[in-house]
Amino acid sequence: MVDYRVDNQFAVLEINNPPVNALSSDVTIGLYDGILKALQDDSVQAVIIIGKGKVFCAGADITAFSKPIKGLGITDVGHAIESSSKPVISAVYGVALGGGLEIALFCHYRISDKKAKFGFPEVQLGLLPGAEGTIRLPRLTGLPVAMEIITSGRQLGAQEAVKYGIVDKIVENDLLQEAKTFATSIIGKPLDSLRLRTKKVKNADLVDKYYDDALKEVKRKYKGLIAPVSCLKTIRGSAKLPYDAAAQLERSLFTELITSSQSAALRYSFFAERSAAKWRLPNGASSANTKPGTVGSAAVIGAGTMGSGIAVCLLRAGIPVTLVEQNEKLLKAAQTNIDQIFRGSVQLGKMTLEKRQECLRMLQGTAQLEKVKDVDIVIEAIFENLKLKQEVFAKLDKICKPTAFLCSNTSTLDIDKIASATSRPDKVAGTHFFAPAHIMRLVENVYGSKTSPETVATVMELGRKIGKVSVLSKTCDGFIANRMNKIGVEAVYLVEEGASPYDIDQIMEDFGMSMGVFKVLDLSGLDVGWRIRQEQAKALGVNLTAETKYLNAERYCSLPDKLYELGRNGIKTGRGWYRYDPANPRKPIPDLDVLDIIQTHCQNLGIKRREITAQEVIERCLYATINEGFKILEENVAEKPSDIDVIWQYGFAFPRYRGGPMFYASQVGLRKVFERICYYHATFPYSKHWLPSDLLRKLASSTDEIPINQWMNNWSSKL
Ligand code: CAA
Repeated sequence: MVDYRVDNQFAVLEINNPPVNALSSDVTIGLYDGILKALQDDSVQAVIIIGKGKVFCAGADITAFSKPIKGLGITDVGHAIESSSKPVISAVYGVALGGGLEIALFCHYRISDKKAKFGFPEVQLGLLPGAEGTIRLPRLTGLPVAMEIITSGRQLGAQEAVKYGIVDKIVENDLLQEAKTFATSIIGKPLDSLRLRTKKVKNADLVDKYYDDALKEVKRKYKGLIAPVSCLKTIRGSAKLPYDAAAQLERSLFTELITSSQSAALRYSFFAERSAAKWRLPNGASSANTKPGTVGSAAVIGAGTMGSGIAVCLLRAGIPVTLVEQNEKLLKAAQTNIDQIFRGSVQLGKMTLEKRQECLRMLQGTAQLEKVKDVDIVIEAIFENLKLKQEVFAKLDKICKPTAFLCSNTSTLDIDKIASATSRPDKVAGTHFFAPAHIMRLVENVYGSKTSPETVATVMELGRKIGKVSVLSKTCDGFIANRMNKIGVEAVYLVEEGASPYDIDQIMEDFGMSMGVFKVLDLSGLDVGWRIRQEQAKALGVNLTAETKYLNAERYCSLPDKLYELGRNGIKTGRGWYRYDPANPRKPIPDLDVLDIIQTHCQNLGIKRREITAQEVIERCLYATINEGFKILEENVAEKPSDIDVIWQYGFAFPRYRGGPMFYASQVGLRKVFERICYYHATFPYSKHWLPSDLLRKLASSTDEIPINQWMNNWSSKL
């Protein structure tokens, strides 16, 4: 775990714990023993700590946080390093994060490769740097900079690290060799002033002002998160208290955080995101045993908002794109739109001018479908209509080379039906991007009954290559994301029963959702839902009216139709569930007219309105969604609950500190969730989504709460 060797006058301690040299107990013991050995060896004049492989050290071993602590802590090692009578130099390559940076800060000197990154990402795990990082960083950088670095969790480049005194020297060549040269130059120099514990915090008398300013900023930027506030408290402690008392405060706040539900959710989210890339199909094929096909070129069919956004993602990743639209006029508009996105990135400093030009060179627009014949992958992004898509796929099948993968950006339609229009259903998959595609990080990849493992591997790898978080779903109506989302449906029913749309939005935002559902509906336009409902009614031969209470034996609420028919189509018409001032169209304003419309609707239908609590709003919106999530697991549409949660975090901005709806259910307790679902099922028999899931029933009947990672262990032979 830590390789110890003596090389002339240097002891080299090489952390060797792949993949990221996390500080497991074996590593901390290895470092501690290494320091002691070096101190006892008279031939050793200086100690160098370095990482083997791609990084110096990614910090504490996150997998060990939920297990009992064993062995030595990072601070024990740190104190041994700091008090060493021989100089200790950390040589950083790759990253020094969290506990890794803390180890580096205990050293007397730090040298760095020019591409190395430094940071305290603990807040992203709901924690604070708990090995005296909050006490030591302010001694180097000053209070405001330490507050910003620690509460943001951002990574600093080597140059910035030098600017703040975190790094003493950036080196260009072989890191170990450079470390030895550096060590030779400092051997024999006094170490006292290099021990951060002995340094004073600059401008300590101004700490209360810095604290107040930073607190305001943190509450605005990281709404609902407790860890950044705790970080500020311990940094304030670093200025107000003697070193050991400040360290004690840091330890006690760290202990509070590590046992908090927020940290549990954030640590779960860290692994959930990584495990989404590790897919497994029911036939045993998996990311571990399947090679993706090559994607050197792509075509996007349909250059509307989605198609253009998808093209941007591919171009940014260096994949040449043939963009197909019906005519030159639409193509031109799309190309202008794409260039505008690139220009925006250049303006924000996220893209160089050269990169923008390179992307534009790789974009070829055409109105002739035949031009896609040589591409490796096609992503269709036309209107959401099965017949139209089938026509396009039949044509593509004839035009494209036999090895080409044919994908659809459909958000709901059955991939098997789309694939049936081709002679290569094994090469057909869904690649459901979320709008706006060039910004949203989620892609829901969908496989049908005939999609080959190679095709699945290819779309999953493509997602990774273009910087997206890819999650795999089996085909079904709406896939994981749209099928599961019951928030909008229940929110409208709640309004009909007595809640105000504005209270519902506030309650969900207080829960942590970034935007209430009625604001979202206004943003996307009420016409979208209205059209879908009209289509559904037409298919059933039903005429929808203001009095319609049931559609296909399901509860129906005509309020959204009423608003749309009154011209309240959301932001685009200046009125929807909210009203919008033309001078500030992004700011929704509650509208008394809407409350009157609701009142009249209820009077006409004889609905007696009642008081609705915040708890009911949360339960109705989330438990209905969670119940559907369990059905999605039952049917193996999602392979594991964490995949569902990743979709909710990246697709619907579900608060990461709550893990996702499935993790949230595990925290509330499955028995409690199940009981409430049964209650709502009995109360609302005409809402099929309350029919309790069998999997949930089974899990809830267990005498012990079953941890989320074991939910799928014994599920039926369907798996
Ligand atoms: N502990 C345990 N496992 C870790 C880890 C850690 N600190 N950091 C990464 N890993 C694991 C990942 O889970 C992943 O495992 P699988 O291959 O099994 O999925 C593997 O290492 C590689 O990680 P990535 O896929 O993320 O690889 P990457 O190259 O894209 O990124 C990284 C590497 C920048 C180090 C990134 O993994 C990262 O940011 N890690 C988290 C760092 C962190 O949060 N450190 C703070 C820990 S808390 C702490 O240190 C508390 C304290 O103050 C004492």
